[in-house]
Amino acid sequence: MRSAGCPRRSSGATRNERPEVDHPRGRRQTVLALDGGREHAELFYDVEAALFQNRDLTALELERVAALAEGLATPLRSPIADLACGPGRHGLELARRGHLVTGVDLSAPFLRIARAAADSGGVGGRQRLVCGDLRRLPCADGAFQSVLLLGNSFGYFSDREDLAILAEARRILRPGGLFCLEITRRGAYLAALEPYEEELVCGRRHPRLRCQWWRRWDPATRRVFTHERHSLPDSGELVYEGPYDMRLYGWGELQRMLRRTGFQRVIQAPFTPAADTLDGGLGETFGAMSEVRFVAARV
Ligand SMILES: C[S@@+](CC[C@H](N)C(=O)[O-])C[C@H]1O[C@@H](n2cnc3c(N)ncnc32)[C@H](O)[C@@H]1O
Repeated sequence: MRSAGCPRRSSGATRNERPEVDHPRGRRQTVLALDGGREHAELFYDVEAALFQNRDLTALELERVAALAEGLATPLRSPIADLACGPGRHGLELARRGHLVTGVDLSAPFLRIARAAADSGGVGGRQRLVCGDLRRLPCADGAFQSVLLLGNSFGYFSDREDLAILAEARRILRPGGLFCLEITRRGAYLAALEPYEEELVCGRRHPRLRCQWWRRWDPATRRVFTHERHSLPDSGELVYEGPYDMRLYGWGELQRMLRRTGFQRVIQAPFTPAADTLDGGLGETFGAMSEVRFVAARV
């Protein structure tokens, strides 16, 4: 967990260090520890501690999923697929509540973190973890009653591939099944977008880590291009540096995509994790997760 003594993310400094935040289309970027192996997974586990290590947030998100499921008269039921599960926080919580969960992620190191948490939490038997790509899920047709894609894990590919991801979610659901997506709210995100942000993170791996983000919104592609750098503040040693970009979908676009991929009913609810409801007030530092939209659809 990020220590309470860490400064909050601040903006507006060292613009002269700004790197180029364009990157060639077609080249896929790292999306949180995908290609960096174990060390990078642990690094991002620390950098994104507000997200990955916050049980209060996870419980609040699952409450939102349950409320939308009720709105669709399609309860959240097992077996559940937790797509892009990362270190597995949602699956862990669901398994604790008795559900049977299959977590799918492309990052083997994140899956190892998830496996260790499930085993030490005594729910290893209820949480399967599978290495696989969202665009070609290693799951049989109709294998799940509920499919979740949470934690702003959608929008990192081309529009065509993003559509394929929704079609894959639809394919692995049973008739009458529930799909739930948690995604950043474009309007809120753009209103708060800063071209430069930095934060000093106190992590498990590095007690002091300087994290920097340079961002640029491109209205033509509706993508935010980010260049991310992590270094040790005392020595200046570079720990990680790399780009990624994220498509920001509006509510209308999401509705059309979900209908096109065969979902029948689509509903949504906004969610802003209020700083005072979260452990240590970490809600302030959530970045793209500060104001999100839960979208639920029924097959
Ligand atoms: C923002 S994290 C969210 C993790 C988790 N859902 C949560 O909320 O804690 C995004 C996750 O997507 C995974 N990911 C990225 N591209 C993927 C792909 N093509 N297939 C499967 N997982 C992918 C990353 O490894 C990472 O764990």
